[in-house]
Amino acid sequence: MNRTITSFGGLFACLVFLLVAGCERTDSGSSSSSPQPSGGATPTTATTGEATTQPSASTGGGAPGRKLVVGYSQIGAESAWRTANSESIKAEAAKRGHDLRFADAQQKQENQVKALRSFVSQKVDVIMFSPVIETGWKQVMTDIKRANIPVVLADRRVDAPEDMYVTFVGSDFIEEGRRAGQWLAEKTGGKAVIAELQGTVGSAPANDRKKGFAEVIAKYPEMKIIKSQSGDFTRAGGKEVMQAFLKSPEGSQINALYAHNDDMALGAIQSIKEAGKQPGKDILIVSIDGVRGAFEAMVAGELNCTVECNPLLGPTLFDAVEKVAAGQPVPKRITPEEGVFDQSKAAAALPTRKY
Ligand code: AHR
Repeated sequence: MNRTITSFGGLFACLVFLLVAGCERTDSGSSSSSPQPSGGATPTTATTGEATTQPSASTGGGAPGRKLVVGYSQIGAESAWRTANSESIKAEAAKRGHDLRFADAQQKQENQVKALRSFVSQKVDVIMFSPVIETGWKQVMTDIKRANIPVVLADRRVDAPEDMYVTFVGSDFIEEGRRAGQWLAEKTGGKAVIAELQGTVGSAPANDRKKGFAEVIAKYPEMKIIKSQSGDFTRAGGKEVMQAFLKSPEGSQINALYAHNDDMALGAIQSIKEAGKQPGKDILIVSIDGVRGAFEAMVAGELNCTVECNPLLGPTLFDAVEKVAAGQPVPKRITPEEGVFDQSKAAAALPTRKY
C-alpha cells in the first residue's frame, strides 16, 4: 500500500513538472511579435538585396521576445560617433533583456578576430560585428558559418561573399561622400583648393567617402584636392595632420577642408586657429557624422556643414537580430535615413540632437 502511495506521489510530481515546463515554453513562444523600434535610426530597406532567411541559431532557433545571447565586436572608442553607437547598442540589448557580450577591439582587427572566435566557442545565438577594415575576414567568417551562427554586420561592410552574413545594418558611405562634395561644390561655385582628412586606412567609410566625394568634384575642373591623408577618425589625428598640411609649402592655398568625420574636423579647427586663420571663413569645412560637437562648432561659425551618419543603430540592429534568431526573413541591407545640416540649420537643430 505504502509503495502504491509513493509511486502515485512520484507520478503526480512528474505531471506537475511537465505542466510547468510546458507553460514556460508557451510563455516564451507566445510573444512572437517583434518589439517596436524605440527611436534612433529610422531604417529604410535598401533595394540592393533580396530578403534572406537564415537558419535559426545553433542553440535552438528562437522567436522575437526570447532572451538571446548576442556576441558583439565593436571597433573601439575613436570618436563621439562610436561612443554614441556603443551606448545605443548596449541600451537596446538591456531594454529587450538580451545577454550582450560586448567586446571592444581597441581599433585592432586581430582583437576582433579573437572576439569572434570566442563567440563561436561560447555558442552565442547571433554574432554582430563592426569591422574596423574591409578585408581579411573570409577565414573567420567561414568558421562562423560552419558553426551555424548567423552574422549581422553593424555599421561597416566587409569584403566577403554575401552568404557569409545575413544582413548589414549601416549607412551608405558613398552617398555621404557625394553629399559632402555636392554641398562644397554649391557653396564655392565649383572652385576650391581642398585638403582631405581621411578616416582609418582600409575602412569602408574611408574608402567610400573618398570615392563619393571624388565622383562629385570630378565634374568641377576647378575643385582640386591638393592634400589627402588619414587622421584615423580621431580628433588628435585630425589636429596633427591638418597642422602638417598648413605648414607644408602648399598649405597657404588651402581654402576648403573635407574631413571624413566630425572629430577630425574638430581637431583640424584647432590647428587652423593656431595657424592664425579663421575656420569656417578662410577655410570652409565640411565633415560627416552630425555629432553634437559639430553642431556647436557650426553655431560658433567654425564649421560649415555636417553630413549626417546616424550611430543610433541599436533598435534596428536588435529588430534584425531577433528576426534572424527566429529564422524569419530580413533584408540583406538596412540603411538609416540621414540628412545634411549646414550653419543655416544648426541652431534650430542643436537642441534636438540625440548624440
Ligand atoms: O563607421 C562610421 C564612422 O566610424 C564614423 O563616421 C566615425 O566617426 C567612426 O569612427
